[in-house]
Formats: sequence, C-alpha cells, structure tokens
Amino acid sequence: MPEFDYENRIVSPEYEGGDGDVEVSLRPKTLDEYIGQDKAKENLAIYMEAARQRGECLDHVLLYGPPGLGKTTLAGIVANEMGVNLRVTSGPAIEKQGDLAALLSNLAPGDVLFIDEIHRLPRNVEEVLYPAMEDFALDIIIGKGPAARSIRLDIPRFTLIGATTRSGQLAAPLRDRFGVLLRLELYTPEQLAAIIHRSAGLLDVAIDRAGALEIASRSRGTPRIANRLLKRVRDFAQVKGDGAVTEAMARAALDRFEIDELGLDDFDRRMLTTIIRTYGGGPVGLETLAAAVGEEAVTIEDVYEPYLMQIGFLTRTPRGRCVTQAAYDHLGIPFAGQMTL
Ligand code: ADE
Repeated sequence: MPEFDYENRIVSPEYEGGDGDVEVSLRPKTLDEYIGQDKAKENLAIYMEAARQRGECLDHVLLYGPPGLGKTTLAGIVANEMGVNLRVTSGPAIEKQGDLAALLSNLAPGDVLFIDEIHRLPRNVEEVLYPAMEDFALDIIIGKGPAARSIRLDIPRFTLIGATTRSGQLAAPLRDRFGVLLRLELYTPEQLAAIIHRSAGLLDVAIDRAGALEIASRSRGTPRIANRLLKRVRDFAQVKGDGAVTEAMARAALDRFEIDELGLDDFDRRMLTTIIRTYGGGPVGLETLAAAVGEEAVTIEDVYEPYLMQIGFLTRTPRGRCVTQAAYDHLGIPFAGQMTL
C-alpha cells in the first residue's frame, strides 16, 4: 500500500503545529476582523445581537464544512462578543458520560462550550447532551438494578457550538437540537489574499498584492493553509531574499514545496492520476479509490475532495468519482473521453 505522510502534508488543514503561539495570535477576535463567510457572519451577528438585547445566551450553533475554515475561530469570536468564557473540547476527547457531565457542571452562566468533531462523540455521551441542550439539566442515575433512580441536576444556561465536517454525519436527534446551523464554504483566492495581508501585517512581513495572491491561489480555499504557507514563504524570503514576499519569491518557495499553481500536492496528483490510469477516469467507488491510494475514505471525502470539486477537477456521481477534462489538462494527460456508463 503506498505510504503518504498525511499528518505532515504541508497543505494538510489538520496540521496545527509550528511556530509557537503565532497561529493563535493570527485568529481574529471580532466578527468585523473575520474575513469571508459573509452569510454565516451576517446571520451570526443578528442572532448574537438579538440574544444580547433579550439578555439571553445565544442558541446552540452547529458549524459544518471542510476542516481549516475557521470553526474554532468563530466559536472564539462568539464567546468574545458575548462577553463569556470559551471552553474547547472535541468529540473523541470525551470518552465517558462523566467527562461531559463534569465539563457541563463547571460552566459559568452563558459560557460557550465548543465541541470540535462533534460527530465523533460516543453515542452514550451524546445522550447526556440532549437534556443539557434542551433543559439545561443533567440526568444522573444513582444506584444499580431495580433500586436505580434518576435525579435531575440543573446546570447553567450555556451555548453549545458544535463543529463537524458534514452535518449529515450527525445523528438526527443531536442535529435537531441546534437552533442555528451555519455552513462554512471554501474561501475564494481574493478572500484568502485579504487574510494573508492581515496575517502578514500581524507577523510584520512585507508582502505585495501579487505575492499574497500567489500564496492565496495555492491554499486550497483554506485560511489555515494560507497562514501556514505564508510562514514558510516568509522563511524562504528571509534566507534567500531581502525578506519581502513578492510574486516571484512566493512562486519559487511554493514550487520548492511541490505545491503547484492550483495548490495541489503530490497526493492530489496521485489520486487523480490513479483514477485516470487505473479506472479510465472513473466512475470509481469511494472505497475502491481509498484502497487504491492507501487513504481512509472519510479523509478523502472531507479533506481532499471538497477542493478538487470546487476547482472542477472531480465530480461525484451515483456510480462513483469521475475526473474531469480540466484535471487531465492540468496534469498534461491526453483526454480521450470518459468510459461510457
Ligand atoms: N484567520 C483565519 N481565518 C480568518 C478569517 N476568516 N478572517 C481573518 N483572519 C483569519
């Protein structure tokens, strides 16, 4: 099976490591500072204002969309703008009912609890969440067998912000308990360029319009990737040039990282080439493709496909994935027409 070091992929949106606290300080703290996602932002602004006017906390919010688009950042902004604390955890980190009960009973009134990857909460833990979200109560079972009884403990009113890559992964009873559902979209190169300019300002890096756009257009619609590439190009510019990020400098650095003009890396190219060479350009089923390229099906769906679909290189059909002529052209492979269905 081919090996690919997904975690350390330079364009992997999951990679969080790196330059100390710098990443944290790049996060916008207010909605005004937050670039893009206009629909989600406008809706959120209205719901927060309405809740503030009523003196209530914001209703529970479900954020969904591909990784790296700023779900945690938005949760931080909500907490900041509502003047409350932010508690951050994730679905896989909460193993037992008691873990969640402890978290919930330690919240202060109005706090925001952010649960990343909420679709990975164990089912029995999810059940603790239902009365908490609906009635701000914990149902505690005391004792065992016929003597067991349930007592109800009140907890402070709070706002749950759940994040998931796809809302369809969530159990319906959980999804239905969110009052606000916001879908985050991949960013356009212009929006990413604006984010890169803002970040460059905070990092004290000189950058021109063309340099920012060059990085933006190779960042797969994802701010987390844009900020990471900016830092790597900055290193390159510092050592190989005078520190300024120009178009030529960005291009030279990104070519060296083997990220092509559209932001595709080795794995993207290999996946597309596999569909073309082994499956005649598709359709190929997701599981078959996953086995062929040695990656998990969910990772292909959540991490690789959204961008390849956005740029029109890949389509999903009921019979499987198909590569488009645009991808053949990009890869320099002659297009002989798709296999007939
Ligand atoms: N950094 C990461 N995401 C951002 C966004 N949407 N706006 C501004 N800065 C960001």
